[in-house]
Amino acid sequence: MSAYHTPVMVTEVLTWLSPRPGGCIVDATLGGGGHSRMIAPLLSPGGTLVGLDQDGEALAQAGQVLADAASNVSVRLRQANFSEMASVLAEENLPAPDGILLDLGVSSHQLDTARRGFAFRYNGPLDMRMNAGSGGETAADLVNRLPEEEIARILFTYGEEPRARRIAAEIVRRRAEKKLATTEDLVDAVRGAMPLRTRPGEIHPATRTFQALRIAVNRELEVLQTALEAAAGLLAPGGRLVVISYHSLEDRIVKTVMAALSGKREGTDLPDVAPPPEPVLSVLTKKPLGPTPDEVRANPRARSAKLRAAERRRR
Ligand SMILES: C[S@@+](CC[C@H](N)C(=O)[O-])C[C@H]1O[C@@H](n2cnc3c(N)ncnc32)[C@H](O)[C@@H]1O
Repeated sequence: MSAYHTPVMVTEVLTWLSPRPGGCIVDATLGGGGHSRMIAPLLSPGGTLVGLDQDGEALAQAGQVLADAASNVSVRLRQANFSEMASVLAEENLPAPDGILLDLGVSSHQLDTARRGFAFRYNGPLDMRMNAGSGGETAADLVNRLPEEEIARILFTYGEEPRARRIAAEIVRRRAEKKLATTEDLVDAVRGAMPLRTRPGEIHPATRTFQALRIAVNRELEVLQTALEAAAGLLAPGGRLVVISYHSLEDRIVKTVMAALSGKREGTDLPDVAPPPEPVLSVLTKKPLGPTPDEVRANPRARSAKLRAAERRRR
């Protein structure tokens, strides 16, 4: 697969999404087009593939990858947040989709490109916006602007970082001298708040801080909940919703929203998810599916993937 991004759990995605000739599938997280490239031929002849990504670089890459992926398939690629899926589909004047795929998080290309500022391994501007250039706040804007308690809350809630308070205090101490501008500035601040030595086998001390800020910058969890509810309402009867998540906070939202929309009361502990008067989904995967050991060996970034699938009820 391309160096841009290796698609995760492809066989499982195709099995649960079940694309068929003439059908319409929405890949709401197009990335490098890795999943779409496998889906498109199964929609031929006469099908439609709609690809969304908020990152313009992903769209350019996927456009190339999909150029020859399938004949007789209409491919529509749009730069948009997946929370705008309903309006994109309405603008494209399409029938209700038979499947919607969300493969959450960031692509390898985003993580491995220093100038995007997602990774503690590479020095670059402290950006982390998936829609870089959109004018929204960067990670640097957040760490230089927010009150200490708010930074601590973000690190604790989105990164499950036990040293959230100490790291927030160190960020605030450092920014009073000089604003944080690069990924290295943030790594140094985290190291300044940590014991000097980390034990062998421990994750990099900045892992949780970077995850937390990325989630905050892109408002990932708020957007996910809204998008899942919208996606369930958009699907054709019998249509499938397939979601791959990569950390427990995302998976909890996916599980809770799917359960609520299928009429289950237990587990609906997110503030705004109330079961609808009539269930709209049936959950197909009782437990989340993971990658096979062979896939994890070949692609270690797949190791935390969890796939859940649900089907739009027929009445
Ligand atoms: C894990 S990658 C998807 C990789 C893709 N499935 C493939 O195989 O190439 C996630 C992609 O989703 C995009 N993304 C994440 N959240 C998004 C959102 N709220 N709206 C639109 N795109 C989003 C990211 O920009 C990234 O390109």
